[in-house]
Amino acid sequence: MSDKINQIDFQDLRNYIDRIGYKESNILQELRAETKKISDLSIMQIGAMQGSLLQFLCKIGNFKKCIEVGVFTGYSSICIASSITEDGILYALDNSEEYTNIAKKYWERAGVNHKIKLMLDDGVLSFKKLLEEEQESTFDFIFIDADKSNYQQYYESSLKLIKQGGLIAIDNTIWKGRVFDNNDQSSGTDSIRKLNDFIYEDSRVDHCLLTIYDGMTLCIKK
Ligand SMILES: C[S@@+](CC[C@H](N)C(=O)[O-])C[C@H]1O[C@@H](n2cnc3c(N)ncnc32)[C@H](O)[C@@H]1O
Repeated sequence: MSDKINQIDFQDLRNYIDRIGYKESNILQELRAETKKISDLSIMQIGAMQGSLLQFLCKIGNFKKCIEVGVFTGYSSICIASSITEDGILYALDNSEEYTNIAKKYWERAGVNHKIKLMLDDGVLSFKKLLEEEQESTFDFIFIDADKSNYQQYYESSLKLIKQGGLIAIDNTIWKGRVFDNNDQSSGTDSIRKLNDFIYEDSRVDHCLLTIYDGMTLCIKK
């Protein structure tokens, strides 16, 4: 790994990137501000630069059929839905009516409502439903950003649902550095650490763990 970045002051770098590194739309800025006001858990939202990367990936890949597990108030779903093809569809999975009611409001405002199908249920059950509907190997892109204890299950279901050459992105794979703190044996950390080790050995995918925000692993199904 290059160590050039080690010589940089990280706060200076962050300020610089936040100023000129990407553009966040007005709707996304408003959603970030509203989420901060209504929830102590606003930290769950993906970073703005990460949102910008999701938009790039969806555009470059010309993605049409996608899944997101972990909608929260809708930030990443807007990034994805606004960047997939006009006839594309995003299955948005979450078990919280409270959070997704906010997401719905912003989907409408962002003009992406028609591309999103909300599945309000436990994520594991929603994945099971998609598999029962015989949608195996039909998805272009899947974004995993929900409860960490189910990450391995979401990953395995995603591998079944994604087509060959399709992309799976998994959020929080650095987990604020806890994955490489051996004193941290909490269940969330353990779950992510195990999945990271598992993906490293998984010959079904090519992978790359990006040090963006809280870490995001990209996997391409071979
Ligand atoms: C980290 S947040 C997602 C953030 C979102 N991607 C964004 O950009 O704002 C995690 C979400 O997962 C949802 N969640 C937690 N456990 C779940 C489960 N078992 N099934 C489905 N959703 C779940 C929570 O309700 C929460 O909205």
